[in-house]
Amino acid sequence: MKLSLDRISKNFGSQVVLHSVTASFDQVHTLVLIGPSGGGKSTLLRILAGLVPADSGTLTIDGETVRFEEEYLLKHRRRIGTVFQAFNLFPHLTALKNITLPLVRVHGLSIENAEEAAHQILKRFRLDDHFQKRPAELSGGQRQRVAIARAVAIKPRLLLLDEPTSALDPEMTAEVLEMIQELRREGRNFILVTHEMGFAREVADQVVFLAGGRIAESGSVEDVFERPASQECSEFLARVLKY
Ligand SMILES: Nc1ncnc2c1ncn2[C@@H]1O[C@H](COP(=O)(O)OP(=O)(O)O)[C@@H](O)[C@H]1O
Ligand SMILES: [Mg+2]
Repeated sequence: MKLSLDRISKNFGSQVVLHSVTASFDQVHTLVLIGPSGGGKSTLLRILAGLVPADSGTLTIDGETVRFEEEYLLKHRRRIGTVFQAFNLFPHLTALKNITLPLVRVHGLSIENAEEAAHQILKRFRLDDHFQKRPAELSGGQRQRVAIARAVAIKPRLLLLDEPTSALDPEMTAEVLEMIQELRREGRNFILVTHEMGFAREVADQVVFLAGGRIAESGSVEDVFERPASQECSEFLARVLKY
């Protein structure tokens, strides 16, 4: 995937959350965003997902400029799979229905085709025993895996994951990270926000360190983790890698 961010800015009221964020990647499959809490990672991901418009700047994905107007963004959102920290699934629906609902409502599949696709994907990710369970009857790890399966079921051009494991214990974190690794090996495109630094190092083609609404560092895993140029990034890494 080719991705370019040119002077993307976003304010909430008087607070500047993204300051003219600029970066460009020619060939990226897994872009990992790291940085301190409040640095603007989720806001940037929401702009990439088309969930909120940027105030100014240009976003281009594979040569196509994302227009920040509702009609365009509606179409854009249909081609992006998103998974957030927690509370992704509809609590009153089974795992199966959670996957079929967007396929039918948003993507126009027939109920039979949607169910067929949902069964296939749940089976593929070894979730077949849980078709009929509601989120409350699933473990946290299973819940996130169903959420990722739902995002993948729409055949997105890009998957955006915002701290998908931050609400999980280590064992569940591992099962979710394995699923992401499996999808990555298939060649899917990801933009991932994570605090799992070990995982970030393993999967990232490119790492962006976002702090205070600015990109303070960007480059390969080696560039960012082994020889960060900014003091902000070295201090952040020292903090998060300490324990
Ligand atoms: N919808 C919103 N309204 C007002 N302020 C927001 C909103 N979303 C995020 N912010 C603010 O923007 C800043 C960056 O937040 P966020 O993008 O969530 O950072 P991160 O994901 O890196 O922790 C924070 O100060 C946060 O309070
Ligand atoms: Mg966040």
